[in-house]
Amino acid sequence: MDLKTTYMGMELKNPLVASASPLSRDLDSVKRLEDAGIAAIVLFSLFEEEILHEQESLHHYLTRETDHYPEHLTFYPDVEDFHQQADRYLEHIRRVKESVTIPVIGSLNGISDKGWSDFAGSIQQAGADAIELNVYYVAADPVRSGSEIEQIYLRNLRTVKKTVSIPVAMKLSPFFSSMAHMAVQLDKAGADALVLFNRFYQPDILPDTLELSPSIVLSEPHEGRLPLRWIAILHGNVRASLAATTGIHTAGDVIKMIMAGADATMLCSTLLKYGIGRIEQIMKNLLEWMEGREYESVEQMRGIMSHKRLENPYAFIRANYVKTLKAYRVKSSEAW
Ligand SMILES: Cc1cc2nc3c(=O)[nH]c(=O)nc-3n(C[C@H](O)[C@H](O)[C@H](O)COP(=O)(O)O)c2cc1C
Repeated sequence: MDLKTTYMGMELKNPLVASASPLSRDLDSVKRLEDAGIAAIVLFSLFEEEILHEQESLHHYLTRETDHYPEHLTFYPDVEDFHQQADRYLEHIRRVKESVTIPVIGSLNGISDKGWSDFAGSIQQAGADAIELNVYYVAADPVRSGSEIEQIYLRNLRTVKKTVSIPVAMKLSPFFSSMAHMAVQLDKAGADALVLFNRFYQPDILPDTLELSPSIVLSEPHEGRLPLRWIAILHGNVRASLAATTGIHTAGDVIKMIMAGADATMLCSTLLKYGIGRIEQIMKNLLEWMEGREYESVEQMRGIMSHKRLENPYAFIRANYVKTLKAYRVKSSEAW
């Protein structure tokens, strides 16, 4: 069985990639990910705030943001924690590269034009095989238009592309008014991969203490339907590789993403929930399923359920919406 796939020009032994998570903080976990069969690892992100470690500029940055959204301040780690993070991150890349033979992808997370994206060059020098850029931007400013926000993504991508020669992936949010147009713009600007989608962590409200609670809720498999749809729509329309992240918990989820057109399928919540051993289970089930259906390679499955290949591509856009809503029947227990 040929499970090989090409992601951003890198040949991977299979489509399973460990997405950015705390599992990559520890060398032992990184080695266990490789031993379990993962084909590449995206490291946890280095945040813009950790790079802009001159206290003054950081202070300015934080207060500017918090003028409008005071809750931001309570979510940021202490300013002291930012110091030396960048150097430690580079050292971590070097150590991870010495410990494993699979590709290692560094991750940069930021939004401003303050020079953090130049740091991509240091990530390349430290030995990363590629970079994933995560522009985690919550578009909450009512005077900022959608096209201005799109420019933030494009500017950061162009800066990083000018700085490095290794491939650059963009991890995207699904919140664009024209996702397909944005994807094509990033493709034209040189993105080597689009990683769909960044999962925004929604703070909750604690009514008793009048506080916000920024706790993380791990994903559920049904959340994979959002990247599934967009990968199916974009497959064949962009030159960039497509990676699926969010809601991939089982071999079935991996198969669906590949059929939609994904070049790589990323695992995070399922590994945090069930442990690194989950990779072996997913791999075993993937092989069994493919053998049972006489597929010979991942390549053979890729994109067979994509928008372009479906007889009725409208199914991915509006038709199913109308049909599904009309088909729903209220059970007697739900009636009130
Ligand atoms: C605890 C935790 C930490 C994460 N850290 C990062 C990070 O540092 N950078 C990043 O781009 N994504 C990060 N993510 C997002 C994951 O890489 C992934 O895209 C997201 O969880 C959706 O995939 P899943 O459904 O498999 O969890 C993190 C997710 C979790 C749960």
